[in-house]
Amino acid sequence: MLFTLALLKILLLTHTPSKSSAHRRLLSPHAAPNPAQPGLCAASVLVHGYKCQEFEVETGDGFLLSLQRIPEGRVGGGGGRSRPPVFVQHGILVDGMTWFLNPPDRNLPLILADRGFDVWIANTRGTRFSRRHRNLNPSQREYWNWSWDEIVAYDLPAAFEFVHRQTGQKMDYIGHSLGTLVALASISEGKLVDKLKSIALLSPVAYLSYMKTPLGVIAADAFVGEMIQLLGFSEFNPKGKAVAKLLKILCASPGVDCYDLLSAITGKNCCMNSSTVEVFLKYEPQPTSVKNMVHLAQTVRRRAVSKFDYGTRARNVRHYGQARPPVYNLSSIPRDLPIFIAYGGRDSLSDDRDVETLLDSLRLHDGDKLTVLFVKEYAHADFIMGVNARDVVYNALISFFNRW
Ligand SMILES: *[C@@H]1O[C@H](CO)[C@@H](O)[C@H](O)[C@H]1NC(C)=O
Ligand SMILES: *[C@@H]1O[C@H](CO)[C@@H](O)[C@H](O)[C@H]1NC(C)=O
Ligand SMILES: *[C@@H]1O[C@H](CO)[C@@H](O)[C@H](O)[C@H]1NC(C)=O
Repeated sequence: MLFTLALLKILLLTHTPSKSSAHRRLLSPHAAPNPAQPGLCAASVLVHGYKCQEFEVETGDGFLLSLQRIPEGRVGGGGGRSRPPVFVQHGILVDGMTWFLNPPDRNLPLILADRGFDVWIANTRGTRFSRRHRNLNPSQREYWNWSWDEIVAYDLPAAFEFVHRQTGQKMDYIGHSLGTLVALASISEGKLVDKLKSIALLSPVAYLSYMKTPLGVIAADAFVGEMIQLLGFSEFNPKGKAVAKLLKILCASPGVDCYDLLSAITGKNCCMNSSTVEVFLKYEPQPTSVKNMVHLAQTVRRRAVSKFDYGTRARNVRHYGQARPPVYNLSSIPRDLPIFIAYGGRDSLSDDRDVETLLDSLRLHDGDKLTVLFVKEYAHADFIMGVNARDVVYNALISFFNRW
């Protein structure tokens, strides 16, 4: 949910009379960075002297997802040893590029490549490099008729199948933010498991009951109502006019201080380099569907992790054959699956009380298969962009992977 930075920026744009023209240029929908060019490999990997391959994977419902592979590190091919594949999944309103904003020795995928992993980068449907579909296009409503349920049911299984076929090996998984929820949900339904060696969850979001204001306001029914009314089930483009209008409404709500939204939403990130933040604002945020945002808001309002709620008994019966949306039972995650969880003390999206709820649902997990790392000074975005994340988180994560 690095989108929060972007929201901050949009809000500044909407509410502050005069900002630097550079910011204006970056954020204006008309002057957005060239969307399709030059490709993630070219933009973020090859330039640093690493090999990189682009792939396209079709999902069961027709989306054509782009996937990048960094097969080896900058130095040495590894002497024929087969490299363990690791699958890296970003959160909501960003794309695979979000992992590459720090210099090579400080960004997770390139560190993994240098430590002997075969790295695969996911890009969720609807984001810049994954906007193609077999027979729909993003200007059509049907194209945006999905929520994270479909990422769980289609995107992850298709990409896993592909990586598994290419490498012939089980893989490690790394997710940040929504990238943790979709993996847990998919595994809880018995998917992915046969192709997984272990999973690492950075800033896990599964339960969101304690998510702090003002993003909590987004969770209010009224807001969801507004969102649907304003946008319908269509594209949620954080750089678009409709979303700006929506944020204006949000910012007018009592108790919401949009001028301090960044800290208020992600928590106070301790360790981000301001030049990395600038790069972030240049390439992100990325679109998602309104339905996905609504589903996330529903997740905030509930204690359980459930499928999309169609809002009425009759409609849920039509979709699910039952009055309430089915629950993802996180207790059904195999107890012997190695899980690494890292969470921050200042993260107001992935609040530590919610992480404790998650840990509680894993309380029967094999003790030696669960490693939990608590980083007191970290907030949500530090796990991706923190200048010291290699020392604070990634080294421990890699040692964990190397145990299995
Ligand atoms: C959206 O998808 C659901 C099934 O997931 C289908 O029942 C519904 O008709 C679709 N709506 C539109 C507008 O395509
Ligand atoms: C921040 O990033 C810039 C550009 O990459 C770099 O020159 C500077 O040393 C970085 N600062 C820190 C504290 O890492
Ligand atoms: C969830 O899964 C656990 C373990 O398989 C099972 O004991 C429990 O009954 C399930 N809960 C629900 C609500 O299905």
